[in-house]
Amino acid sequence: MNELRSHLSRYAPLRRYFLRYLDLQLAMLVCSLLSGFGGVLSPYITKLTFDYAYANRDLHLLIALAVAGLLMMVFSTVGGAVQQYLQLHASQRLTYAMRADFLRHLYRLPLSYFQSRTTGEHLYRLGSDIPGAAGFIGGFVGAVINPFLSALYPLAAVLWMDWRFALVAMTVVPVFVLQSRYFGRRQRDLARETAAEQQRIASEATNRIAQVKLVKAFGRERREIREYLSNQIKLIRLSFRSYWLNLQSGTTSNLVNAVVQGGVGLYLGCRVIRGDMTVGTLIALSMYFVQLIGAARGLANLYQGILSQLVPVDRMLDVLEMEGEVQDRPGARHPGSLDGVIALQEIQFGYLPDRPVLNGLSLTILPGTMVAIVGASGGGKTTILNLLLRLYEPDRGTVSVGGWDVRDLKLAPLRQQIGVVLQETHLFSDTVRANIIYGDPEATDEEVIASAKLADAHEFITALPLGYDSVVGEDGCHLSMGQRQRIGIARALIKRPRLLLLDEATASLGSTAEVRILDALRPKNGERTLIVVTHRLSAIRDADRIFVLDDGRIAEQGSHHELLALDGLYRRLWDQQFGSQEVAPSVGDS
Ligand SMILES: Nc1ncnc2c1ncn2[C@@H]1O[C@H](COP(=O)(O)OP(=O)(O)OP(=O)(O)O)[C@@H](O)[C@H]1O
Ligand SMILES: [Mg+2]
Repeated sequence: MNELRSHLSRYAPLRRYFLRYLDLQLAMLVCSLLSGFGGVLSPYITKLTFDYAYANRDLHLLIALAVAGLLMMVFSTVGGAVQQYLQLHASQRLTYAMRADFLRHLYRLPLSYFQSRTTGEHLYRLGSDIPGAAGFIGGFVGAVINPFLSALYPLAAVLWMDWRFALVAMTVVPVFVLQSRYFGRRQRDLARETAAEQQRIASEATNRIAQVKLVKAFGRERREIREYLSNQIKLIRLSFRSYWLNLQSGTTSNLVNAVVQGGVGLYLGCRVIRGDMTVGTLIALSMYFVQLIGAARGLANLYQGILSQLVPVDRMLDVLEMEGEVQDRPGARHPGSLDGVIALQEIQFGYLPDRPVLNGLSLTILPGTMVAIVGASGGGKTTILNLLLRLYEPDRGTVSVGGWDVRDLKLAPLRQQIGVVLQETHLFSDTVRANIIYGDPEATDEEVIASAKLADAHEFITALPLGYDSVVGEDGCHLSMGQRQRIGIARALIKRPRLLLLDEATASLGSTAEVRILDALRPKNGERTLIVVTHRLSAIRDADRIFVLDDGRIAEQGSHHELLALDGLYRRLWDQQFGSQEVAPSVGDS
């Protein structure tokens, strides 16, 4: 119990959930008081039957007692049933509320949290741990208060009927508690180990099955199956260990039970033979004793039960205790329309400590222009976009829009105005239309088509069997990479973003299509600012400004011709792609 006490502060957040359905919990308490009352009167009715009805051959009393006994039975059965119903209610409602809170919290966690976990793990916590935790809180009265009640009732009855016997009976309780302490911790550890193993298997299987194409392409099916099955064997071993532990614990308590009951029977029998007690009292006391033992066992299992039931609770709290991202500073202001100068100043940033990616990087982007960021793979281009989106915060330096540090701006309206096409385009397994209006759920069909046209996607979409209603398959697997990217662009465009970020968004298209799309997206009247990250320099020749990233900072910047004239890094990159011609091969040739 010490352990329980020391952890009590950890479980304080659960109080909120408990109190939320306090009315249900109180109703359950009343039910269990009533049903316990019914249960505790039955032995006494039996005693009266033996000592008065039988002894005096009183038929009327017998019938009255039989009716009373029946009523008590009905009382306790109905009370128990209603309690179970209420418990189901409480735990279902709690599961709902806790899942909502859990998801809300999960989405607030920083991206770095997700990168060190798997989807399967989150699914397991959401699908299995949360109902477990809700069951524990919803069933708190049934699981924790009931065992005490069912011990108190017969104990009170025994004390009232024969206090000497009550003393004898009380000595038994510690035996059960000791035995439970011994097994409880082992059972809890095993439950924890099993949950961790199940979660690991689930996340591995989710990952492998999601990558089925890779598995097939490398001919690793048999190996995957073997690995899955060998993990299963670990689980089977664990369930056998749990079985043995339960068997040991059960056998021990059965043994103790038998010895104790035998001793008590002998003691009571002697007193009846000495004329110290009536047969009716013997029967009633024996019945109460059985109830007491049951209650003592319940109390002993209570500790075991709580320890095991706390496993999902702990696993849920592990996530809820994680520090969420600071969304908005106090006093953060609405960014207004994002049409100011975007500036990164002296940015230092690394994903891991001591591994800087950006190192004193500064750049300024004028509103309504098209700029491009180029540089070697792994140089930090995507990282710059991540900082603009505030998916990560710089370690040092500031990102500002229109003169305001983005950390002083409200995040939601900021992101609302940024359209982004990520380097890997992910689509939901839904229709083309649903994927496009993900950017703006209110968009009309005309807007969907207009965005698709701008992204050069309308033509291929209408050629699909169901047009905009075609389902794209998991992560867009029914489409080619270039088609997925164009849907991704349409999805970003439908937000009518003030700032559009394209991270290699056209890399899977031919250079003709790439140039055509970029030309269409080029801000004509300053309606948006466009930032393009690409490796294909021919596509961004017309950008207003090109930034060349090297060694974590901007090494060169200027228009295409200025940069070529500089004869530096950009010139070398250009020459690598096109030889030392001044002009790239025309669109038609590539
Ligand atoms: N989530 C992450 N955790 C740790 N390191 C990361 C993470 N994302 C990127 N990096 C590292 O940061 C560096 C810059 O990555 P970034 O994705 O910005 O490069 P990039 O210029 O976009 O490259 P590419 O042209 O290949 O897309 C790389 O060395 C990469 O290994
Ligand atoms: Mg990148």
